[in-house]
Amino acid sequence: MKQPSEIRPAQGRLGVLLPGFGAVATTFVAGVEAARKGIAKPVGSLTQMATIRLGKRTDARTPFIKDFVSLAGLEDLVFGAWDPIPDDGYASAVNAGVLLPEHVEPIKDFLKSIKPMPAVFDPAYVKKLNGPNTKSGPTKKDLAEQLRADIRNFKSENGCDRLVMVWCGSTEVYVQAGPAHQTIEVFEKAMEENDASITPSMLYAYAAIMEGVPYANGAPNLSADFPALEQLAIEKGVPICGKDFKTGQTLMKTILAPGFKTRMLGLSGWFSTNILGNRDGEVLDDPESFKTKEVSKLGVLEHILQPEIYPDLYGNMYHKVRINYYPPRGDNKEGWDNIDIFGWMGYPMQIKVDFLCRDSILAAPIVLDLALFLDLASRAGMKGIQEWLSFYFKSPQTAPGLYPEHDIFIQHWKLKNTLRWMMGEEQITHLGVEYYE
Ligand SMILES: NC(=O)c1ccc[n+]([C@@H]2O[C@H](COP(=O)([O-])OP(=O)(O)OC[C@H]3O[C@@H](n4cnc5c(N)ncnc54)[C@H](O)[C@@H]3O)[C@@H](O)[C@H]2O)c1
Repeated sequence: MKQPSEIRPAQGRLGVLLPGFGAVATTFVAGVEAARKGIAKPVGSLTQMATIRLGKRTDARTPFIKDFVSLAGLEDLVFGAWDPIPDDGYASAVNAGVLLPEHVEPIKDFLKSIKPMPAVFDPAYVKKLNGPNTKSGPTKKDLAEQLRADIRNFKSENGCDRLVMVWCGSTEVYVQAGPAHQTIEVFEKAMEENDASITPSMLYAYAAIMEGVPYANGAPNLSADFPALEQLAIEKGVPICGKDFKTGQTLMKTILAPGFKTRMLGLSGWFSTNILGNRDGEVLDDPESFKTKEVSKLGVLEHILQPEIYPDLYGNMYHKVRINYYPPRGDNKEGWDNIDIFGWMGYPMQIKVDFLCRDSILAAPIVLDLALFLDLASRAGMKGIQEWLSFYFKSPQTAPGLYPEHDIFIQHWKLKNTLRWMMGEEQITHLGVEYYE
């Protein structure tokens, strides 16, 4: 990738398009509006709260990221969504039950003003859902063209300078990339022929890229993670990234596992189980959608711990992930981890983690950061897969043949070094010999 020679400033309005207007998406838009009104702080967002060190430790240059790179301001964001369920932002937020009335009621009119556009939806790909707010058309290509028209209309009706799209829709059934996904020519032909291996989320990704709109995928389904759309993104000069927001249990896993490995502690087993009661939990109760999620969650430990390099420490680890739909908990999930580690001379130890987390509260700042960073990447002329944003994903999209980096600390370092690189600042290696000369 070429170092940006110039970055266009973030002037004018940035439209954030959200396929899927459920718990995560409404918590995100409500949080942005609450921050704009001074009701709540955007906790968890690097673009809003984090600083970045520049130069030597003795230089005392540590600006906020948002002052270092040109990012769209919260006041410049406008929101659009698609959902097969016709609920406006207020009804959907109340139904999701993530936010308290004291946060939802003061912004009721704002939330009500966001009404989802008819979705490209097919219950064959999300078995536990159905809704009337959908598009129809003779072919998948035709449906994608309708989405492209929505994108153009949204942009002109809202006076947007630029757009980004973040998939916040349900997890689709497990589909692997096949012949239809290899080149853009066969992909377009397969859309015309209503090929079953093309899912709705792929049509949104295609529409976004064709319209020059950066695309991030917050769910584990393929969406834009295959050669045809990766190539199209490069041709059209569009940044893309995915997959599956890193929240809850996987966030904890990618914080803890690098710690064990840095100390060369062994791992014999990691059993993870979750109970959650939101709509996402209901969708994941379907074995085919769960399979997509399971693949996304399981890869993490293998990649961090590298059992092939450390057979004595990680060669026999047993890793299991379960998700159970349990309605009383709503969005307030409980994730248990039982971790069997071993130390000096093989002596076993156990760690138990019980994370009473709020999924959408952890996901919302990720949506915001992805929207702002993808817009930055686009203004900087960066295109194709943006691996520096793997910090935000359970299953980071990478160049073909490259294994993903899952260690959250490496991902964080990579993200900040990319910002330094974009701005022509020195990389920080933490070598530090210069202080001892
Ligand atoms: N909350 C988290 O921490 C988290 C973490 C990682 C990934 N995710 C993923 O993010 C997605 C959203 O999660 P959520 O909790 O908001 O779920 P949700 O069920 O509350 O919202 C998803 C919405 O997507 C809609 N939808 C489904 N198919 C669609 C389509 N084809 N077009 C447009 N809309 C469609 C559904 O009707 C629903 O309203 C899920 O795929 C979930 O797995 C969430």
